[in-house]
Amino acid sequence: MIEIQDIKKTFDGKPILKGISGKFEKGRTNLIIGASGTGKSVLLKCIVGLIKPDEGHVYYDGRDFTDADRNLKIEIRREIGMLFQGGALFDSKNVEQNVIFPLDMLTDMSKEEKLDRVNFCLKRVGLENVNKKMPSEISGGMKKRVGIARAIVNNSKYLFCDEPNSGLDPQTAIVIDNLIKEITEEFDITTIVVTHDMNSVMEIGDYIMFLYEGHKVWEGNDSNITESNVKELNDFVFANKLMRTIRKEV
Ligand SMILES: Nc1ncnc2c1ncn2[C@@H]1O[C@H](COP(=O)(O)OP(=O)(O)OP(=O)(O)O)[C@@H](O)[C@H]1O
Ligand SMILES: [Mg+2]
Repeated sequence: MIEIQDIKKTFDGKPILKGISGKFEKGRTNLIIGASGTGKSVLLKCIVGLIKPDEGHVYYDGRDFTDADRNLKIEIRREIGMLFQGGALFDSKNVEQNVIFPLDMLTDMSKEEKLDRVNFCLKRVGLENVNKKMPSEISGGMKKRVGIARAIVNNSKYLFCDEPNSGLDPQTAIVIDNLIKEITEEFDITTIVVTHDMNSVMEIGDYIMFLYEGHKVWEGNDSNITESNVKELNDFVFANKLMRTIRKEV
């Protein structure tokens, strides 16, 4: 479980996160949602330690990451896998080299062990016989799969995905969402996904935190998100015509 307490962050005098708290449970897909520019990526970066919050604490299974000493920080970082917004594969490395990278950096496994693990993860995300392909030779959906394989290759306990299905068609997007959910449950990982895609919200939202102008204004799940009285949330959820039609029919 990951717990955040009163996270605050200001950039250039402009408050972006204004005190956010919440709990992200293990074995579930936890979503952070909200409009563009509302601070989702900044919050995710605060949680993984890419940005230092001005105030507040992040706990990984009770371990205080914010005030951790160097050794504990390294220990927790090794347990983190991240799928970056846009995929962020190394263009000059092939699929296998991309996925093996964290193992080269973080472990002293033998080459053979590493390749076994890489192939296991590639198979798990539905990719076989593409080890030698370059990122430019595979589709957007396959790139996301490679990104997911790389994020879990080091037996990650915590998986973070920033807009995992941006740039994908709606059907492929749902396949990728479901893959993240399945992996989360199968390996009992604590997963946090940042998204502004309502399809993802309805498909995989075990726990949903809605941000609005730097505040958490609602939390819940995919079955009660359409029933809230929070105006900012409803403006977000019912922004498209399809969702408005569904609301009328219920
Ligand atoms: N390193 C930074 N320095 C200064 N301002 C920043 C920095 N990173 C983010 N911001 C600002 O913080 C605000 C929130 O940005 P953030 O990237 O978290 O939005 P987001 O909710 O992830 O949006 P999107 O859905 O478009 O990805 C924006 O106004 C952005 O300009
Ligand atoms: Mg973002």
